Order: sequence, then C-alpha cells, then structure tokens
Amino acid sequence: MSKKIAVLYGGRSGEHEVSLRSAAAILAGLRAQQDLTVLPVFISREGSWQLGGVRVAVLPHPGVGGFYVLEGENAGSVIGVDLVFPVLHGTYGEDGTVQGLLELAQIPYVGAGVPGSAVGMDKILMKAALLAEGLPVGPYLWFTGAKWLSDKELLAAQVEKELGFPCFVKPANLGSSVGISKVYHQEGLLNAVEEALIYDRRILVEKFLPGREIECSVLGNDKPRASILGEIIPANDFYDYTAKYLDNRSRLVIPANLPERVAERIRKLAVQTFMALDCAGLGRVDFFVDDQHGQIWVNELNTLPGFTSISMYPKLWEATGLSFNDLLLELICLAEERFKQKEKLKTTFEAS
Ligand SMILES: Nc1ncnc2c1ncn2[C@@H]1O[C@H](COP(=O)(O)OP(=O)(O)O)[C@@H](O)[C@H]1O
Ligand SMILES: [Mg+2]
Repeated sequence: MSKKIAVLYGGRSGEHEVSLRSAAAILAGLRAQQDLTVLPVFISREGSWQLGGVRVAVLPHPGVGGFYVLEGENAGSVIGVDLVFPVLHGTYGEDGTVQGLLELAQIPYVGAGVPGSAVGMDKILMKAALLAEGLPVGPYLWFTGAKWLSDKELLAAQVEKELGFPCFVKPANLGSSVGISKVYHQEGLLNAVEEALIYDRRILVEKFLPGREIECSVLGNDKPRASILGEIIPANDFYDYTAKYLDNRSRLVIPANLPERVAERIRKLAVQTFMALDCAGLGRVDFFVDDQHGQIWVNELNTLPGFTSISMYPKLWEATGLSFNDLLLELICLAEERFKQKEKLKTTFEAS
C-alpha cells in the first residue's frame, strides 16, 4: 500500500521563503518515488494550515493520526497520514513546537524530537549543552532584554573586557542570520542589541572567531554518520541574510580543502554535537576552522537545514555518494524507526 507523507512548508517564521524553496525540492523528490502519496500542507505566515486550499488542523487525539478538515464539503472528516516531513525553518517549525504537536497526535515525523529541536534552535541553551559535553564552543555571554535595560553600562563593559571587538550580537532564537550584527566598537553595541531585541527577549554576544566556515551533514538516529565537508565562502563581511539568499557571489566549496586529519576530527565533532543534543534523522553542524592556530569551534547545529537541491545539506550527501532522492527515503526510514522505538517505551510506572 502506498505510504502517505504530508510535507509541512511555509510557516510563521522569518524563513518562510526559504521553506518554500526547500519544500519545492523535497516535494519533487518525494513525488518521484514509486509508492508514496505526497500531501503538501502549506502553513501561511499567519499560521493557518491548508491542504489543497482547504483549512486543516492536526488534532492531538488517539486514532486520528492525520489532518482534520475544517471547512468545505468534507468538513469534519480526517485525512490520515503515515508520516509528516516538516520542512519548516526557524520559529514555529524547527524549534520543537510543531514536533510537540506531532508527538501529541502520535504521528511519526522526520527530524529531531522536541528537546533536540528546541535546544538546537536556542543558541544560548545549545552552547550550554555542547559545553557540558566537552565540545569546543567559543567564548560568549548572554542576557535578557530586561537585564540590558537595567544594567546596560555594566553589560557593555563586560562585553568589552571578556569578548572584545569585533563581537557578534545575536537573538537567542532565530536563523538565516536575521537580527545578527557584527559589532566593531563599543558605540555599535547599543544598536546591535536593540536590533536583536526586536526578535528575541534573550541576547547572545559571542567573541569573533576568525577562520573558515566549514559545514558537515549528519544523518542517522542512534548511530549517525557524517558526510564529507563543505566550505562556505560568504560574499559579505560575514554570512548574513544577503550573502545567504540574495547575493549569488557566496560560494559553496565541496569538498572543503582540508587535510584529512583535520576533516576527520571535524566529522567526529559533528557526530558528537548531533548526539549531545539528542538529534534524529538529520542535522547540519557548522564550524569555524582557524588554520593558523589549528583551532576548531562548533558554531551551531541546524536541525532542519536548508534543503533546496543546491543547499549544503543534500549537496554534501550527494558528494558522499547518497543521491537527493535516496536521502529522502533514508530520512523516512529513520523517522519510522525513531517512532517505533518510542512507541515501545513505557510511559507509566507499575509498582510491583
Ligand atoms: N562568533 C563568530 N565569529 C565569526 N563569525 C561569526 C560568529 N558568529 C556568527 N558569525 C557569522 O555570522 C553568520 C551567521 O551566524 P549563525 O550563528 O550561524 O546564525 P544563523 O543561525 O542565523 O545561521 C555565520 O555563518 C558567520 O558568518
Ligand atoms: Mg548559521
């Protein structure tokens, strides 16, 4: 029997457009498979879910396992699905919220679960989790908007003393470089923090880490494997939104030109990062590699990385010998495996 896969795309985040592009590639790939029925579920910027132009909703109700039709002639019926592929980047998609909804609805889904998604999305929690596992994370500090309002001078002095300039100011939870500034001097800090506070109530300030931007794709559940490495050569001063999506002068170099010993070490760190955050299915781990000082830093982990046909995540697998369509099939298998594993676990305690 043909398996029914719902692809969630669009969404309420600033990365709505990127999701449309990733979804177009994934939908085409899934439709090319023999025994799959693909249901594209569009999520508007306002957060309304639509299947074939009709509003639908996921209901956390046992036995429903699909989309409840909210309007039209089939209102009240349920469209059952076997699996969901959330192709949503950023807030309300990559951050554990959609994953939580799917857990409640007992539908298998591609990618990390609730904690992996939530911690992976929150740059402050992510760094703490990685440091606890002994992974190399650069110096940083963080504060809330409220703390900034009351202790601005103190925090600014602390940034200067502990991190120096240039530094990076980031909202805790966002992606695609939105709200991120590279700050060159004390005067720039104020504007940068205010800009980041538009997007989040918690702010991260990082020491500038010199070096090349190297990325690694990870695939698997309990025994994840790492792809060969890629390098990003940003068109701008850093890999900001324009360099990522608007300026086609940014380059991806695959494979990254690194000594095998260094590449092997990075691949190992990528798998450790994936495991440290309890990821599942897929994840792209991004590094800064300082050739001069022989230093490798983990920058971040993306639990739903860009997935257009020219995005780094699938490109790295292609270069490692796994085609785009085979990658999709493997992600589906991994989602089913993770779901079955979880189903077997007891959720109640019976005293003997
Ligand atoms: N500490 C840092 N040192 C040097 N460059 C940085 C640092 N943090 C971020 N960058 C630059 O900013 C870009 C975006 O930052 P990142 O933390 O990856 O945010 P996003 O989640 O939006 O991709 C990076 O790809 C890199 O070019
Ligand atoms: Mg990044």
